[in-house]
Amino acid sequence: MCGIVGYIGNKPGSDIVVKGLEALEYRGYDSAGIAVIENGHGTVIKQVGRVAGLIEEVNQQELNASLAIGHTRWATHGAPTIANAHPQTNNARSIFVVHNGIIENFSYLRERLQAAGYNFTSQTDTEVIPNLIDFYLKQLPSFEAAFKAALQDVRGAYSIVAISTDEPDTLFAARLSSPLVIGVGEGENFLASDPAAIMEHTKKVIYLEDYDMAIITRDKVHVLNLKDEKRPEPKVELLDYDNEQAQLGEYPTFMLKEIYEAPAAIRSAMLGRALADRHLVKLGGLESVLGQLKYIDRIVIVAMGTSCYAGLVGEYLIEELAGIPVEVQLASEFNYRKEPFSRSTALLAISQSGETADTITALKKVEDYGVLRLGIVNVVGSTIARMTDAGVYCHAGQEKAVASTKAFLAQVTVLLLIALHLSDGKTKRFVPILDELDTLPAKAQKVLDQAEEIKRIAEKYKGYRDFLFIGRHLGFPAALEGAIKLKETAYVHAEGYAAGEMKHGPLAMIDKDFPTFAIANDSPLLDKTLSNIQEIRARGGPVVAIATEGNKEVKDLCDDVIFIPKTIPETSTILQVIVMQLFAYYIATSLGMDVDRPRNLAKSVTVE
Ligand code: AGP
Repeated sequence: MCGIVGYIGNKPGSDIVVKGLEALEYRGYDSAGIAVIENGHGTVIKQVGRVAGLIEEVNQQELNASLAIGHTRWATHGAPTIANAHPQTNNARSIFVVHNGIIENFSYLRERLQAAGYNFTSQTDTEVIPNLIDFYLKQLPSFEAAFKAALQDVRGAYSIVAISTDEPDTLFAARLSSPLVIGVGEGENFLASDPAAIMEHTKKVIYLEDYDMAIITRDKVHVLNLKDEKRPEPKVELLDYDNEQAQLGEYPTFMLKEIYEAPAAIRSAMLGRALADRHLVKLGGLESVLGQLKYIDRIVIVAMGTSCYAGLVGEYLIEELAGIPVEVQLASEFNYRKEPFSRSTALLAISQSGETADTITALKKVEDYGVLRLGIVNVVGSTIARMTDAGVYCHAGQEKAVASTKAFLAQVTVLLLIALHLSDGKTKRFVPILDELDTLPAKAQKVLDQAEEIKRIAEKYKGYRDFLFIGRHLGFPAALEGAIKLKETAYVHAEGYAAGEMKHGPLAMIDKDFPTFAIANDSPLLDKTLSNIQEIRARGGPVVAIATEGNKEVKDLCDDVIFIPKTIPETSTILQVIVMQLFAYYIATSLGMDVDRPRNLAKSVTVE
């Protein structure tokens, strides 16, 4: 987590850096800071809280330095305080470091440095880096040599940028398992965790690889690989997309705006791919691997959080439509399991951001297995998009709120298209599904049109501290998604369960203070879900349900009902989840929560 920006050129670097940090706030937003070097002197400005606070502080100072680094933090080691914010410095305050990732052996390094006379003023793992560089600088001939020596000592995952008063024209950078990109300009160069932070200045970029170290001045970029010193310097790439910065417009929050973008997100995920009139699904991103796909007899989906729940929807869809066995694993679990993995298995990574550390590690784990690595990613050019052999972009547009909403809908739409694609036209459901997909954006809009009613019901349930979400078949992953939305936005304890599991434990918790949100729209399994609802009602548990328009039986049985348009099972999850997104949103906002930036979270989870 955490975002890094660096600048060397002829302009006031602090302005460029803080503007870049704003674009990176999705990576962490509990504190932020910059360091600049001017006339041989280093200045550090740090703030607890959002980048906006840092900008105010920076604007009050006359800073014209052309060498600057900045950081927006998501705390791992130590609370969000000024002392723990980055940049961190050495004791002599001549070396300034920003860092994203975790230095796993920091305790050992800290003790070693303390024994050598160094003092530590923060609780961070990062503070060992400037002091370690300082330590080596006393023994080695150059800052470059000392930086390199320090890198040899640190274990873990990192992107690091260091500047020094002794090197007032140079940025030193390094990367291992944490993204860092160089922006190449004219008489100026940039560094950032994500091109979004520097794209307005240049579209020429160099993506650093693991073990890369870079030495960057205003006119020169030199990249070497510490593991393979003979490796040729990486090429400059041209970004062929624009940095669309989502604007709030008439919406009070990005979360609400993004929920309302559901119809557009579903439409763009299908655009040029679901060709209902030609009874065809065309996925350009998979064309290069069509030959390999024919031999795939198992798919392992790896993802985290909401993307993992989309993966669970995909499991049902791919198995039922294409007949290929699918297993969904949390990437964080997959990474440390020793399971048999044959070359006819494909690994499919799903990630909105394309930067989730656990999911990246999963892709790395199978690097040498010779297996096909596929991706479903929203952010164009992200690490996962670049790492995979082939994939399908979600095209949901920029998602800014921490709670993923429209991206989930796009992921499920893409998974449905992949399932149809893999079925090779053999399933009888091919045409009905394509026809239904055509109507889905309009049905999503119909759900959104009921926002006022959903808000009214949400207000009624806002006082409860616990919630159960239940569903069957494709409604089960939807229930998991409904629960995570409520947890992360409203801080209400919520659990998603398969409705059939109720009698095996969760039913014990049910009483008048423990409501259930039941997914009970028309489906071949509705009768079974209705029995589960009966059992909850018999124990005094309040029930709010999703039902299909006109279903009187569900209405009579439950305390409250939210209706969705009639649809087929394969597309039902999308409509159910829009309802639960709005339900969570209205509970959270009526409790006064900051839904776009919930406490303790970040949009992109770039540490394991
Ligand atoms: C979504 O609402 C969550 N904030 C979170 O679970 C997220 O889906 C997860 O961190 C995975 O992110 P990714 O899709 O960017 O990989």
